[in-house]
Amino acid sequence: MVPFNNTGRIFNTFKNELSMAILKSAESGFWLMGEQTKLFEESFAHYCGARYCVTLANGTDALEIALRALLDNQSDSEVEVITVANAGGYSSTACRLVGVTPVYADIEVNTHLVDIESIMRCLSQKTKVVIVTHLYGGVVDVEKIRKRLNENNYQDVKILEDCAQAHGGMLNNVKVGSMGDIGAFSFYPTKNLGAMGDAGALVTSSPELFEITLSLKQYGWSKKYEISRINAKNSRIDEIQAAILNVLLPQLDNFNEKRKSIFREYVEASDNNKIRFLDYSQCDFVAHLAVARVNNRDDFISFMKKSGICVDVHYPILDINQPAWVNEKFRIDEEKKLEISIHQVCELVSFPLFPFMYKEEIEKVVSSIKEWCEK
Ligand SMILES: Cc1ncc(COP(=O)(O)O)c(C=O)c1O
Repeated sequence: MVPFNNTGRIFNTFKNELSMAILKSAESGFWLMGEQTKLFEESFAHYCGARYCVTLANGTDALEIALRALLDNQSDSEVEVITVANAGGYSSTACRLVGVTPVYADIEVNTHLVDIESIMRCLSQKTKVVIVTHLYGGVVDVEKIRKRLNENNYQDVKILEDCAQAHGGMLNNVKVGSMGDIGAFSFYPTKNLGAMGDAGALVTSSPELFEITLSLKQYGWSKKYEISRINAKNSRIDEIQAAILNVLLPQLDNFNEKRKSIFREYVEASDNNKIRFLDYSQCDFVAHLAVARVNNRDDFISFMKKSGICVDVHYPILDINQPAWVNEKFRIDEEKKLEISIHQVCELVSFPLFPFMYKEEIEKVVSSIKEWCEK
């Protein structure tokens, strides 16, 4: 079978460097908040073009802490946060944790990124934050959203970027994470930059937001043992994970290039009438996932399985239909009723795409794409 992903190949490729980094961190005895964490925070902020990076335990904590900071700890269901319903539920999870109401904007047909016009229709006097997900490695035009918000008297609405699927992605030479007020990242192992376990971070260039998020990740302390902020938590990266990320960060651009070249091969092999890959030619896409729309999806998935290729669906259930949330408060873009999100969710298929795919595996996927399209 061609696997959907294989993280073991990352370790095997960088075995010496990673083993050494892990061993050194273990020997140092500083297993939390040591030199490696500090170094990673500096390097990652620099990579993203932001002033500060705050490392955390995972990407969900990054979204929750960022949202609390941007809302200045308001946790009232009257407060509205605009997001999308097709991005795996992570932004909604953060809204539910914080206690604010998600408002769902629709997506663009060709990219499945948020539709800016739909954001504009969702705005109200209750809107405090827009969460923008750079989905599948595509990059949302945050600058354009900021401009539209400002032009329409929504200067105070903050923008939180969910960058968990787009490390290194860019638009107009600006990296994801430094386009909005805060950028939230996950370093889950299969991400474009992944650790060997859970890890996350947020980046910002605002000294105030940096201070608030630092406090929210450490019990709400203003100084040691003095708790000045409510609704804080403990969220730390392990020193070993930071050391691993320090080895892999310099490889990120290379990894992204490999991902992009595999994606291009798939696009070239496909006939748009049968398999329509989402199109990210308008941005510096980093190919986190290769997602396409296929009409008779069930038949296609069994065809791929029979051909020995693992495929997946990102994401099969919209946030508005998640069993745990159907009775919770939410709003949608009333004019278009999420028509694209709803109509296209049953057509989505994700193909194997990771930097360490073997040539024969890529060829096998390519030939199966061609075979299906020629049927
Ligand atoms: C878009 C997006 N946001 C947030 C997350 C949450 O990250 P984590 O799994 O590290 O909590 C993920 C991860 O899986 C994600 O894909």
